[in-house]
Amino acid sequence: MTRTLFVTTALPYANAPFHIGHMMEYIQADIWVRYQRMRGAKVYFVGADDAHGAPIMIAAEKAGLTPQQFVAGIASGRQAYLDGFSISFDNWHSTDSPENTALAQSIYLGLRDAGLIDVREVEQFFDPVKGMFLPDRYIKGTCPKCGAADQYGDSCEVCGAVYAPTDLINPYSALSGATPELRSSEHYFFRLSDPRCVEFLQGWTQDGKLQPGVANKVREWFVTNPDGSGGLSDWDISRDAPYFGIPIPDADGKYFYVWLDAPIGYLASLVNLFGKLGKDVDAFLADPEVEQIHFIGKDIVYFHTLFWPAMLKFSGRKVPDNVYVHGFITVSEEKMSKSRGTGISPLRYLELGLNPDWLRYYIAAKLNSHVEDVDFTPSDFVTRVNSDLVGKYVNIASRVAGFLSKRFDGCLATDLGADGDVLLADLRAQVPVVAEFYETREFGKALREIMALADKVNTYVEAHKPWELAKVEGAETELHQACSTGIEAFRILTILLAPVVPATASAVADFLGTEQFTWDDTAATLGGRTIGRYAHLMQRVDAELVEQLFEPAVAAIEPEPVVTPGGEALADQITIDSFAAVDLRVARIVAASAVDGSTKLLQLTVDVGEPSPRTIFSGISSAYRPEDLVGRLTVVVANLAPRTMRFGVSEGMVLAAGHADAAVEPGIFLLEPDAGATPGMRVR
Ligand code: MSP
Ligand code: ZN
Repeated sequence: MTRTLFVTTALPYANAPFHIGHMMEYIQADIWVRYQRMRGAKVYFVGADDAHGAPIMIAAEKAGLTPQQFVAGIASGRQAYLDGFSISFDNWHSTDSPENTALAQSIYLGLRDAGLIDVREVEQFFDPVKGMFLPDRYIKGTCPKCGAADQYGDSCEVCGAVYAPTDLINPYSALSGATPELRSSEHYFFRLSDPRCVEFLQGWTQDGKLQPGVANKVREWFVTNPDGSGGLSDWDISRDAPYFGIPIPDADGKYFYVWLDAPIGYLASLVNLFGKLGKDVDAFLADPEVEQIHFIGKDIVYFHTLFWPAMLKFSGRKVPDNVYVHGFITVSEEKMSKSRGTGISPLRYLELGLNPDWLRYYIAAKLNSHVEDVDFTPSDFVTRVNSDLVGKYVNIASRVAGFLSKRFDGCLATDLGADGDVLLADLRAQVPVVAEFYETREFGKALREIMALADKVNTYVEAHKPWELAKVEGAETELHQACSTGIEAFRILTILLAPVVPATASAVADFLGTEQFTWDDTAATLGGRTIGRYAHLMQRVDAELVEQLFEPAVAAIEPEPVVTPGGEALADQITIDSFAAVDLRVARIVAASAVDGSTKLLQLTVDVGEPSPRTIFSGISSAYRPEDLVGRLTVVVANLAPRTMRFGVSEGMVLAAGHADAAVEPGIFLLEPDAGATPGMRVR
């Protein structure tokens, strides 16, 4: 029976470009997906940006952009990475989308109808310096469960516990450093502690589908201690405005906490894809035959094994079939954090001309089905790729292909001889073994098995020595058989490797003059067919190039999103003396009028505290009517050299703010001092 799969990877926060940790997750999922597709499964593999939340809102504000503009900038960079590493998503979407808004609100209403939403007054941390309720990520302190210092307000990166910021020991504001104050506000809760949820989740997480290590970890979260602590807690799913997120229905000024709408983004991306395909997504999502699989990292297990299945279940939807959890990638054993990333940039890897299949191969070789960390060690990378992919695999084709084109017009023998048949039978016998390793995400084992097969093929080639046969009179048939066997074997190995090294496999298919490979092609032969001329398939890794991955130049290649507040970069730094040279004074506008012959200018008469008022021409007529300005205080540059204009002499300049590009953000905003200032006061 054909399997139908709905596969996702975690939705990356849209506040930074991808780092190697993201690529590792995509490579893992992509290998599995490609394997399933080769087996004939229909796979819908989708991703999206996780756009909402306070950190992104704050980052956007710092960059002088709207959250939407900020997120769009990050999203526009995604495809280069995905294409570069052959990640075969069928769709990439965003949680800040109409699909996600509709889904999140409908799932929430489902939970409310099920009686699982509570509204409670909550004492929440308020930053007295910043004057706002503090988002979880901006409160830090000591983890209440394990005692680790400097943990964020929503979850602990050390022990994985999820809690409320008010549970932190010794909390402080990460924005100002101030000790936050408790203030009251109404919050919405998902009642995860409800017996229905607990019972469902105990079943869903402990029925044997999850990886054993994951199931054990989750089991601890259910345990209630003798003192009443522990066990599943209700989940605070609302945040107060201002917040970049999805409004909660029937709750003014309240938004869904980003982690409520984030996993719903999986469905939103699928809905978006089905829209493009013109297919019925509701039928698909209700179909019990569809397998829904989420690939995630070990840090977000709580959200995916508790909140997410419960949200789906109690809003009347189909629940996930599995969540596949992987460990973290470190680089030369150095931990990288979500926010800090790591020294090696995936884009730099591509720009240096390193082959993406090498990284896919290396990561796959280190992956298994357990939640284990993986280390990228440069020297190990060079050795592994050179000895396996180049030395064992590609070597086979380069040893035999030349003779086939030179001596046999590229035509493959139909009779491979007895030991040729034995070799291919040996290879085919292992195909189901390799298949099972791919299915169970034991990629390291799959590749070890394939390389053991490559060793056998090389032993065969060495036994027949085509390079010597080629010089022997009357050895034509043996030469033809040996080289044809070599190519048939190479083709089988390529099919087995195809999920891991898709670009290479595709080049091999072109060289052999065949369609893109399916898994069952391992059973077929090319006997009697003519193949193309062999062109070198893969270089050896140059260790010096790999070293360059670590050069500090990374920053130049992958800059942080350019910070252009107000649409323009900051001017060069000045000293306090340069600033003091500008004499700014409070001024009162005593008269204002339109200027005949100018659509831009207003003529202002301003009192700067001097015996007689000044005349200033100002380009603010698009934003202000003259009569509205009279009487207002503003600030002028009082020592600017007078300028003779077509309409008269301008004796200074009025200060006003505006975006560099009025098309992006229209408007001109006159500066105004606080009440109490009087004309002539200096601004410093
Ligand atoms: N936005 C949330 C996920 C929402 S899913 C509905 C998030 N984003 S993230 O950008 O921080 O992480 C995205 C994925 O990358 C997660 O699965 C995370 O575990 C994974 N990784 C982040 N750093 C990693 C490594 N160093 N190594 C491997 N995977 C890592 O969490
Ligand atoms: Zn902890």
